[in-house]
Amino acid sequence: MQGESVHGMWSSRLAFILAASGSAVGLGNIWRFPYLASDNGGGAFVLIYLGCIALVGLPIMAAEILMGRHGRMSPVNTLRKLTSEGGHSKGWVVIGWIGMAAAVMILSFYSVVGGWTLHYAWLYVEQLFGGAPITDPDATFTAMLGSPGTLVFWHTVFMLLTVGVVAMGVEKGLERAVKFLMPLLFLILLGLFAYGLSTGKVGQAFEFLFTPDFSKVHGSTWLAALGQAFFSLSLGMCGIMTYGAYLPRDISIPRVAATVALTDTSVALLAGLAIFPVVFAFGIDPAGGGPGLIFTSLPLAFNDMAFGIPYAIAFFVLLAVAAWTSSISLLEPPTAFIVEKGRFSRKSAALLAAAVIWALGLVTALGFNVWASVRIFGRDLQGAVEFIASDLMLPVGGLLIAVFAAWVLRKDISRGELPDLGNGGYTAWKVLCGILAPGMVLLILYMKLAG
Ligand code: PFF
Repeated sequence: MQGESVHGMWSSRLAFILAASGSAVGLGNIWRFPYLASDNGGGAFVLIYLGCIALVGLPIMAAEILMGRHGRMSPVNTLRKLTSEGGHSKGWVVIGWIGMAAAVMILSFYSVVGGWTLHYAWLYVEQLFGGAPITDPDATFTAMLGSPGTLVFWHTVFMLLTVGVVAMGVEKGLERAVKFLMPLLFLILLGLFAYGLSTGKVGQAFEFLFTPDFSKVHGSTWLAALGQAFFSLSLGMCGIMTYGAYLPRDISIPRVAATVALTDTSVALLAGLAIFPVVFAFGIDPAGGGPGLIFTSLPLAFNDMAFGIPYAIAFFVLLAVAAWTSSISLLEPPTAFIVEKGRFSRKSAALLAAAVIWALGLVTALGFNVWASVRIFGRDLQGAVEFIASDLMLPVGGLLIAVFAAWVLRKDISRGELPDLGNGGYTAWKVLCGILAPGMVLLILYMKLAG
């Protein structure tokens, strides 16, 4: 009943871990986490974040993987299979639709931002060969956003990179790409961390990130920590469920989920310890944070530091690689779904999904310039797409996945997928998934919508 997925299978435990970590480690780790931590009480935020990862993120990740592994299909068809096998309401299939819609929407703007990282890497490569230095990073950033041609060009390049991998299939595309890209990512990150050590400011960065300041902890800190845990672990949108569909039966789900969560968290912490020493060494105020920290503040340091240009190239390549391995996991669910319709080869399916997402990405790209005055929910177009997908659909998807896995899914299925958990461990998983995670998600949703 549960042979292999028609899309292919991961060849090993390591392949799954690299692919799922590739999905998890992304722009969220390298720019968002350090900034959130610094703004929300440093060590206090980190502690709360770790709690959210362990108590909410991990159980939901296990739920996604086990549902995927049992269904062996794209999210929508996995849910169809699980509901028909268990005699549950077909209404639960909505989980798959929400997940796929969120993946499509997130990739549409993620690819535009991925394009920014390629554009910046290119600007510094040009500088290496005598191009004009970026002396006014604000102006460079604004000029990029103001140019539809630049944004669309790099968005297109990024999308081509993504579809190039997905079109090749699970083993020859996804697995081969992550086996090369993830070690590259770790290597660059370690290099940048070593550079940070050489500035003599790692102690200050450490203090900044890890000294708990509980006076800065408010309701919004919990919100930020839980939201970041979801986004960073790629949960709620069935990307991890799709990767779970290709996981061989004999691999322990709790163990791989824990490894992926640990890898994701370590990369976020290491990124903080690589970036902040440079920030401090050049007297930059980290308070601005957000995308600005990377695209407008760090370039100030790149101009003055030793080996600044190679450092900048390595840094933006790191970001591009991290974004690339995440975007692959966003294109895979819709691609698998189209393949399952039976009328398209994987190549055509990947191209079709990518073309639709590319077109949707134009909304984000043009929202920065041509359509800059358009407002939805009081946000610009990119902000609106991001809000609907990341802030609403991800938590709702995560909530439904947790409730379905803990309360609806037949016990013999969930128990059968988690054979290495003792009875106590299995009960703990059920309680976390069925009670704590939904409670926390409902709380964030309420606070987000109310505030
Ligand atoms: N986890 C990615 C990051 O931290 O940047 C973002 C992401 C990728 C979210 C894939 C969701 C997803 F399915």
